[in-house]
Amino acid sequence: MKQINRRKFLILSSSSAIASLMAQCSIVNTQEKKQNFSSYPQINQSQDGILELDLTANFNQINLGNKQASLLNYNGQIPGPRLEAKPGDTIRINFTNNLPQPTNLHYHGLHIPITGNADNVFLHIPPGDRFTYQFQIPENHPAGMFWYHPHLHGLVAEQLFGGLAGLFIVRGELDEIPEVKAASEQFLVLQDFALDEQGNMLPSQELSIMTGREGNLITANGKFNPNFAIPAQGLLRLRILNASTSRFYHLSLEEHSFYLIATDGGALAEPVEMSELLLTPGERADVLIQANREPGKYRLLNLPYERVGMGMMGRGMMGKNIPESQPQVLATVSYETKVTAVPLPTKLIPVPALPKPEKVRRFQMNHGMIPDQGMAFLFNGESYQSKRIDTQVQLNTVEDWELINTGMIHHPFHVHANAFQVLSRNGKPEPYRAWKDVVLVRPGETVLIRIPLRDFAGKTVYHCHILDHEDLGMMGNLEIKA
Ligand code: C2O
Ligand code: CU
Ligand code: CU
Repeated sequence: MKQINRRKFLILSSSSAIASLMAQCSIVNTQEKKQNFSSYPQINQSQDGILELDLTANFNQINLGNKQASLLNYNGQIPGPRLEAKPGDTIRINFTNNLPQPTNLHYHGLHIPITGNADNVFLHIPPGDRFTYQFQIPENHPAGMFWYHPHLHGLVAEQLFGGLAGLFIVRGELDEIPEVKAASEQFLVLQDFALDEQGNMLPSQELSIMTGREGNLITANGKFNPNFAIPAQGLLRLRILNASTSRFYHLSLEEHSFYLIATDGGALAEPVEMSELLLTPGERADVLIQANREPGKYRLLNLPYERVGMGMMGRGMMGKNIPESQPQVLATVSYETKVTAVPLPTKLIPVPALPKPEKVRRFQMNHGMIPDQGMAFLFNGESYQSKRIDTQVQLNTVEDWELINTGMIHHPFHVHANAFQVLSRNGKPEPYRAWKDVVLVRPGETVLIRIPLRDFAGKTVYHCHILDHEDLGMMGNLEIKA
């Protein structure tokens, strides 16, 4: 594990890029001083077993940090309302599509029905229409950090990049562990935007096709460099979502370790210390941070991360997505006193090993040119077709999937409805067991995952969570047969 050293950051902070970023940020800070800027304008919690709300997708002028911008949003805010429910709860979302194009909702990571008016990504809600989503969170659903976003094939990247995403939190056992409960809980939704001077979205052609569109305005909870204050008990629980269309976040907090307590699908068995955290699109990390250094302000940085084999690609094809060579400041963590009154938890929630698989399959990930269509991203040499069933599995079985990246670009692989465990990477066993629903497969890698197909039959999808890749064909239909 890499040690964060003070010297390294002193060098970084002398760079002019960082200095000007910090200058901009301090303006925002003084303007927003009195507010708790990590907070959400709207939080909807279930009551007496029901979570019901109106959710409207709009395209209009809103406030993004200190800017006015024309963006896509749920209920006038970016990110969208944070929904919170418990296992067993009934969810009813009265959805209105006020966008000029069709859309729908996907509940990323939730283990709920994939048919009807639940997590059905094949629904098509035309402009001006309403639709009521209704489902129940299973009684045995793990606590965790999930999220909702549009999922209409061909428009997913565009609609997420416009700002459409919101958290869906399931409360449960993990939240009741005394040390976790005593920590101060904050959420951090990372998004990026590309806007012109007038605050209009830049067209995607100006961004990159190979690595997916990225914007150079990065927001944390829709703000620029918000501050997270650790209260006097000394423990912060920061729950981070990468809600970007294509951007990877390579996170590091100056002078502090992250103690990872949960991943996409819920808790780990025990905290895992890390100095850097890579979050690819769709991934979540729930970390504890101890106020155990000198009191002060520490920057949460996005470190450079190279995700294309440059030698092969040539920078021309990268469009404007030339990787940043400087760390960017995403948020600040501050505290006034050095305390560790609340200790770290030692045990969390067991992650049982899955039984041996009934079947082993391979998914080869690559890209290519398709006649009359241009650039496409492929599973097993095929581009997505809505009518074709690519993978048929039997309900209540366990399978091993071998994800093989034979191309030159990183692909975060995602499956709907069931979380999986990563067994190995190029034959090397994973250091700890965790529930995931997105896993990064780098060029040349073979990642072996084990997936239980539980409870819900029907048709759903797996895809690359670089949503431009998904829209350009890197998706497959998964049929779970009862
Ligand atoms: Cu977060 Cu199919 O997606
Ligand atoms: Cu999903
Ligand atoms: Cu991809």
